[in-house]
Amino acid sequence: MSAHDRHGEQPIELEEIGTNDSGNPSFDSVLNARLSRRGILRGGMGGASALLLGSFGAAGLAACGSDGDSTPTPTPTPTPTPTPVPAPKFNFNAVAKNVNDALTLPDGYSYQVIYAAGDPINNATAAYKNDGTDVGFDFRAGDHHDGMNWFGLNAAGTARDAASTDRGLLAMNHENITAVFLHANGPTTVAGLRPQAEVDKEIAAHGVSVIEIRKTDGKFALNRSSNYNRRYTAQTPLALSGPVKGSAHVKTAYATGGDFARGTLNNCATGDTPWGTFLTCEENWAFYFARATGDDAVRSANEVAALKRYGIAEGAKGNGWHTAGNTDAYTRWNIAKLGTSPEGTDDFRNEANTFGYVVEIDPYNAGAGAKKRTHLGRFAHECAVYAKPVAGKPVVFYMGDDSRNEYIYKYVSKAVWDAADADKGMAAGDKYLDEGTLYVAKFGADGSGQWIPLTMANAAIAGYAGYTFASLADICVNTRLAADAAGATKMDRPEWCSVNPKNGEVYFTLTNNSNRVVAGASGSKLLPDAANPRAYEDVKGAATQTGNVNGHIIRTAEDGADPASLTFKWDIYLFAAQSDADAAVNLSSLTAENDMSSPDGIWFGQNGLLWIQTDDGAYTDVTNCMMLAALPGQVGDGGSANVMNKIGANTLEVTTRKGKNPSADSLRRFLVGPKGCEITGIAQTPDFKTLFVNIQHPGENTKAADLGDPSKYESHWPQGGTARPRSATVVITRTDGGTIGI
Ligand code: FEO
Ligand code: CA
Ligand code: CA
Repeated sequence: MSAHDRHGEQPIELEEIGTNDSGNPSFDSVLNARLSRRGILRGGMGGASALLLGSFGAAGLAACGSDGDSTPTPTPTPTPTPTPVPAPKFNFNAVAKNVNDALTLPDGYSYQVIYAAGDPINNATAAYKNDGTDVGFDFRAGDHHDGMNWFGLNAAGTARDAASTDRGLLAMNHENITAVFLHANGPTTVAGLRPQAEVDKEIAAHGVSVIEIRKTDGKFALNRSSNYNRRYTAQTPLALSGPVKGSAHVKTAYATGGDFARGTLNNCATGDTPWGTFLTCEENWAFYFARATGDDAVRSANEVAALKRYGIAEGAKGNGWHTAGNTDAYTRWNIAKLGTSPEGTDDFRNEANTFGYVVEIDPYNAGAGAKKRTHLGRFAHECAVYAKPVAGKPVVFYMGDDSRNEYIYKYVSKAVWDAADADKGMAAGDKYLDEGTLYVAKFGADGSGQWIPLTMANAAIAGYAGYTFASLADICVNTRLAADAAGATKMDRPEWCSVNPKNGEVYFTLTNNSNRVVAGASGSKLLPDAANPRAYEDVKGAATQTGNVNGHIIRTAEDGADPASLTFKWDIYLFAAQSDADAAVNLSSLTAENDMSSPDGIWFGQNGLLWIQTDDGAYTDVTNCMMLAALPGQVGDGGSANVMNKIGANTLEVTTRKGKNPSADSLRRFLVGPKGCEITGIAQTPDFKTLFVNIQHPGENTKAADLGDPSKYESHWPQGGTARPRSATVVITRTDGGTIGI
């Protein structure tokens, strides 16, 4: 989500504020003491790294963590020299940074828009006029296209076909709205109340699309006649599933049994599953709820702690949806305690507890409904990405919580993988996602890490002073508090993650953190640590930005190459920076061809090509947001690095683990978006010849007062001329029909 104002009414975003002022250490220095620094240097990052590279895999990674003082060195077994596989080469030249109101691609590539905000998804809905008067978003593309996945269909369109390259479903998120352009005159308020028609449109423009696209005459287009096409909005009824279902946390006047909810909200990034379903992740949902001043006095200490931790302190104004009418479709956005029932079955005090989850949808089966998979925890979910499943082993999903100083998580299923479940849809989701263990990550200063279970068996959680946990459901609702109790590492805003298909390593973007300081740390202001090692100054126009301004990408390698492992190794794959920044900031030695700021989307194609997308507000004086292609190495391919942080007169040196610097042959800018957009959402056909990318909120910095003068719109993309800008999905192909990127 962008650093800019999204809703005209709410200038600051929760992910920017951060609500984590728990007293957690930033990194562990006790539990990993056995992993001596000398052992790490010798076994993992120092002289043995060449050996590790040569025998890459479980054994090499495990050796990385062993203590050389107590483990005898085994005699190496000679192995035949493998025939070297030539390294893949980029098939495009770097696109230059620019601030054009255009989507810039390399020579030899072209794009077409296939699904723009407001496009009708059936034949009964009128074409989109794009003047702010359109209605009927239940059957139109929502706004703010975000994460997206491709689900292949057979030629007849009757069933799943993972190998299909020319007919498929796209499932995608509509994270938010650009209210200025959604309404004729921008968002309005009349006597303190939001007009119902505006709120109805805003609610319907959020959520998820499932659409069928088909290639005919060599070009993809939306199939408006498809029965697969549908929308899920912030008002669609869906089920709660997993430990939270039926608990007192989620009982409302709408669902007195706590087993249903309405709507999915602020859907950011996504995932899919080994059984062919779609996962849509609820991010900044907290921002939509109002709660009156004085509500704390009628709440329990636990409730007050939880609401504060999730950013809905008393006095929260929400975005005004609760003011649009007296029916519960509107009043549910006010979560003040108004009723007298003990559990909240006569009001909506618990409504916010029904958001913040990973939601599973079967794109192939509209009738299967959607389920909030509560065991994957409740936070500002960015995406949920699975490790390659292995028969007889648990299924593992990795996730980030995008707010300043929040955490990285994984979920490990109780059931072990059975390939016979690959076509079972939501029934497989019931099996693997409703029962398991949620873990939070703790990064050691020495390049090791731990996954800490968030369960009642964890004494730090059961005995936590900041919140009294009573059950697993409690942990799944108040995951951030449980992670605080567990002593997790506070990170620089975890965005997407992705698993390298070549070796199972997991890449997490940490987009930026203005709360990193060099001196005067207190509350949410944190000193840098090994896993979040930078705090510095960066100039943008007349402003000086401070903190981890440009973000970084951290990666993990599970010990034993086992996704269910309780320990891992890590290093920082990449430090984002402007190429002309001081060497102490541009630690990965980025150049004009690959410098970037605020990595957000990150996604491996199954060919091993890594795509990095930016959602930036720091470097936008020089360039619009972008997407880069990368051919990364592996954890431990660099070494130890010292970061000399400096803000003002204060300095602080931090030691970290840095990957090998990228080169022009391993990191290259592939596209630059139009003005005011972020680049997010990516999917690909399995032949690697068609890439789908979402362009979110072009022109979002336009003021409602300027609607009468199109020359003042920040962007007119994609229609051009004097048109209002629109979020949109584009299809990118090579003009010679070849594969994308490599
Ligand atoms: Fe919706 Fe954290 O990006
Ligand atoms: Ca994002
Ligand atoms: Ca700058």
